[in-house]
Amino acid sequence: MESGAIFAGLHQNLIPNHHRHQLGPSGSTTKLLPSVFSGKRHFSNNPFKLSNQSLFACFSNNNSKNANTLQVTSPASDVKPELADIDWDNLGFGFMPTDYMYIMKCSQGENFSKGELQRFGNIELSPSAGILNYGQGLFEGLKAYRKYDGNILLFRPEENAFRLRMGAERMCMPSPTVEQFVEAVKETVLANERWIPPPGKGSLYIRPLLMGSGAVLGLAPAPEYTFLIYVSPVGNYFKEGLAPIHLIVETEMHRATPGGTGGVKTIGNYAAVLKAQSAAKAKGFSDVLYLDSAQKRYLEEVSSCNVFVVKGNVISTPAIKGTILPGITRKSIIDVAISQGYQVEERLVTVEELLDADEVFCTGTAVVISPVGSITYLGKRVTYGSTGVGLVSQQLYSALTSLQMGLTEDKMDWIVVLK
Ligand code: COI
Repeated sequence: MESGAIFAGLHQNLIPNHHRHQLGPSGSTTKLLPSVFSGKRHFSNNPFKLSNQSLFACFSNNNSKNANTLQVTSPASDVKPELADIDWDNLGFGFMPTDYMYIMKCSQGENFSKGELQRFGNIELSPSAGILNYGQGLFEGLKAYRKYDGNILLFRPEENAFRLRMGAERMCMPSPTVEQFVEAVKETVLANERWIPPPGKGSLYIRPLLMGSGAVLGLAPAPEYTFLIYVSPVGNYFKEGLAPIHLIVETEMHRATPGGTGGVKTIGNYAAVLKAQSAAKAKGFSDVLYLDSAQKRYLEEVSSCNVFVVKGNVISTPAIKGTILPGITRKSIIDVAISQGYQVEERLVTVEELLDADEVFCTGTAVVISPVGSITYLGKRVTYGSTGVGLVSQQLYSALTSLQMGLTEDKMDWIVVLK
């Protein structure tokens, strides 16, 4: 095992900016270990008090095909890296480069077999790659939370793995097994541990991608596929924070059509909503709520999240029928709401019911639960509650986030403890 020596030959451009200053004047690579790995400090009982400790991880270049490849062994359980030096109090939902990403490749007709961690950096693609030319790609989103006791928690990562597999089938791509997916997520999170926000400050957003990376010209599935995971520390998704958001119902443009790809997390679904979303934001709305494309009467979802409508003790949400993304937060909130005594209905929900609701809220991994303060439909604005966040949204938000952050007992067996 040769600590540090693996960096020999690593091109400057492959080194993220926040590591470059660690190069010696001669360009010597021996000091390139990011502070998470070279740092001698760790969290004591209070995870945010630093004290001296030994190395967090070991590296090996054995069998490494690529000088940019790292193998990270499991850190000793009592050794904690220091936190990245960023403003943890003001995290939004913006991209921030971290230390490592995970990459695994396979050819068409084969299975993914072995992936590896690499320093975070740009990737190389043929201009003719399937993802660039024909949009053959999927993404996922999940989060890791840091607990007060230093543990790191994932929320239902195997659900993301199942959803990716479903989407891959629709998009003619091979996909990692559930075990490969979850293992890759764990490795990526642990390698980037110092970027997981302190408890209560946010989470580490984990973004798995699956793409046709091989070159094609005629329309066909790509000959090679890449599974990649990168991470970024995040806070609230909407600029409103936890305050209610303001939605406009879109009546001309649609997010999905029957028989299309609205029910899988393909990248094109998100590009397709940018026009309506930009127009809505320019008018001061937070985001757009889409209707079904056939009758323009039934709710589908918001650009980046699912929608729920509350009337009395009944919480309704559009049923999953191919045009709506099967959100993992959506599914979890349904179970949490039922366990709290609500009646939950997955069915067609009309725009009239939306306007007549007591409360409306959105759910998603990035969004978590976002209360809706107003809906504008055909020029008419309806507001919900005069005192900010509705009671049901508040109650469900608190139940879900307490679970995700490890503050309440995980009776559902949804939490994966990393360390
Ligand atoms: C997520 O909630 O994780 C998503 O994938 C939505 C994305 C637009 C941020």
